[in-house]
Amino acid sequence: MRGARAAGRGLLVLAVLLSGYVAAGARSDESGRGPLTLATAGDLTGYLQPLLAGWNRAHPGERVTLVELPNSTDETRAQMETDLRGGNGRFDVLNIDVDWTSQFAAAGWIRPLPRERFPLDTFLRPVVDTATYQGRLYAVPYVTNAGLLLYRADVLAEEGLPPPRTWAELERDARTVAPRHGLDGYAGQMLPYEGLTVNAAEAVYSTGGSILGDEGRRVTVDSAAAREGIGFLVRGVREGWIPRESLTYTEEESKQAFKDGRLLFLRNWPYAYVAADSAGSAVAGRVGAVRLPGPDGPGTSVLGGSNLAVTAHTRHPDSAKRLIGYLTSEPVQRRVLTLGALPPVRAALYDDPALVRRFPYLRVLRDAVLSAAPRPKSPRYDQVSLVVQAVVHDALTGRQTPDAAVRRLAEELAAVTRR
Ligand code: GLC
Repeated sequence: MRGARAAGRGLLVLAVLLSGYVAAGARSDESGRGPLTLATAGDLTGYLQPLLAGWNRAHPGERVTLVELPNSTDETRAQMETDLRGGNGRFDVLNIDVDWTSQFAAAGWIRPLPRERFPLDTFLRPVVDTATYQGRLYAVPYVTNAGLLLYRADVLAEEGLPPPRTWAELERDARTVAPRHGLDGYAGQMLPYEGLTVNAAEAVYSTGGSILGDEGRRVTVDSAAAREGIGFLVRGVREGWIPRESLTYTEEESKQAFKDGRLLFLRNWPYAYVAADSAGSAVAGRVGAVRLPGPDGPGTSVLGGSNLAVTAHTRHPDSAKRLIGYLTSEPVQRRVLTLGALPPVRAALYDDPALVRRFPYLRVLRDAVLSAAPRPKSPRYDQVSLVVQAVVHDALTGRQTPDAAVRRLAEELAAVTRR
């Protein structure tokens, strides 16, 4: 009898403990606070740790540990995916490339966020869309990006030429002016990886073409516009005004080629402008930046950048959201630009006279961001991008005509979207 009562008491204690555990679990669902781990792609400008140190000093119970994954966006995504697949990964907050939001949301790896908690209406208009999937907010824009054309201002001035606005002008100067000055013409990022998808999409978008529609459900790439866009890049490589080395370039190698004074024109993100114009660069003080040219005037940049997302499995979602609030606050966004050379998402900073003086490309960048186009939204974005990289690279190396490449793109993308 005593034994039974003792067992009963034991059960009661167990039940109380369990209900406490469940309640804590439920609380941790949206209101859990505690330490955090933030995963990001390689921090090329080394600016993030100092920003996080500011948070850590003020929030000792919610300290954030930074985990830097490899430089290339593709490798970072693969590592994050591996971590997330088991449903109980190491990370609480993810700094994800804008083009992964749909895939991570569709897979259930990141949680929907309450719009009212973040000052979305203070951000540059196009960036919020990259953080939404099927009408819900799944991340908060953190850094934006748009491809720019960097040019050697000294060389063009010597020739009495303005920076090119059209592909025809870019092509002419890359073909004729560059060799006169011992330079290669034009380079972008054409190694098969995400950067090539970006460069190809910019060429296609600039002619009015597209790749996928309806959040990735419809293939729209088979068009004369896409042929013209891919054809422009293919012609450049074939004729040599795009150097063949460009087929092995990511952002970093292409930036280096420009910094070393080997290129007249470079398509890259603005961080490369800052690097090329700073002490230690062979071309410091001789660099300009304009919108990417297109067939008959400024072309279309792909919207780059990254969003901050909260993992589905985190036990500290409230801290995660508070950290995101901090990283997207105006003072921190200012330092994203001044320390990190990365384009902030807060619109007001682009009108700040001190910043405009210090970063002369800021106005051009804002125009480029406001007119930039996102990459296709797709729950299978990784597959979509792999197809684009592989097919366009085959066209660039001359294994396939632009015409055949566009037809193959349409077929292979249809297979991905059907899967
Ligand atoms: C930059 C962009 C990102 C893009 C990547 C491609 O990091 O911000 O959006 O996917 O370059 O390499």
